[in-house]
Amino acid sequence: MTNCLIVADCLDALARLKPGSVRLIYLDPPFNTGARRRASAGSYRDAFGSPAHYIAYMRPRVEAMLRVLSPDGSLFFHCDWRMSHHVRLMLDELFCVSSVGRARLPAGAFVNEIVWRYGLGAARAGRRLLTKHDLIFWYARSPGYVFNPLREPPTPAMLDKYRHVDEHGNRYMNAHGKRYRMPAGKLLDDVWDIPTIAPTAKERVDYPTQKPLALLKRIVALASNVGDIVLDPFCGSGTTLVAARQLGRRWIGIDINPQAIEIARARLGQVEKHRGTR
Ligand SMILES: C[S@@+](CC[C@H](N)C(=O)[O-])C[C@H]1O[C@@H](n2cnc3c(N)ncnc32)[C@H](O)[C@@H]1O
Repeated sequence: MTNCLIVADCLDALARLKPGSVRLIYLDPPFNTGARRRASAGSYRDAFGSPAHYIAYMRPRVEAMLRVLSPDGSLFFHCDWRMSHHVRLMLDELFCVSSVGRARLPAGAFVNEIVWRYGLGAARAGRRLLTKHDLIFWYARSPGYVFNPLREPPTPAMLDKYRHVDEHGNRYMNAHGKRYRMPAGKLLDDVWDIPTIAPTAKERVDYPTQKPLALLKRIVALASNVGDIVLDPFCGSGTTLVAARQLGRRWIGIDINPQAIEIARARLGQVEKHRGTR
């Protein structure tokens, strides 16, 4: 069952997927803001009560995700300051003692805490600092998880350091009588500066809390390979699935909200149309 959209509570839909078949799971569930999230293209409930209630809702769903994750697969959990500390403890527990067979997994299942700094957003914060980042926890099933190192374009500091250019156009620097070539770019670290979607951006479908395609393409490229199955069990407008499709992965999207699935279907249809006309 791949390249499909499912309207359901992910708890039910995940039970129908093949165990161990998914290489990458990205989830961007409601953050427990206490309010209904609304935008012109839809709305969804985002109030679960206390942190304990939120975790009690999430835990069986993440357990169901672990069942379908492959032994070399990764899970990325997107949240913010409200629930992040509770989510982290839950993930530590679930990834060390698997719900499947209760086997202890080797250490190293926690990979990174990624800070997504989005820049734009609320401009008034009252008597505290403005909040300008979300957290994405990366956990892997085993130390052999798929990892494709990514590089960003060279920084101004790198260009300054490697200021000489050889006859082939390669930049280098001289030190201790030796010549050092500039690396292809700056290795990606765990703080990602990616702007939120601009009001007039082509990718905007105006689903509440729609995430930028650039963010999802980075995650898909980092932790999966061409042909792998990428799953988003809280897919909303389908950003992860569009990223997966554009990068040659297979995809599965689940959302409890039929409006979300309709938007995701239309977006994926557009991707296919553009591929057809290229
Ligand atoms: C933060 S939004 C996802 C936004 C998405 N990443 C995007 O870029 O459009 C969370 C989504 O989770 C869905 N959702 C909430 N509870 C769910 C459940 N139990 N199973 C599946 N989807 C659920 C909501 O309908 C909502 O679309």
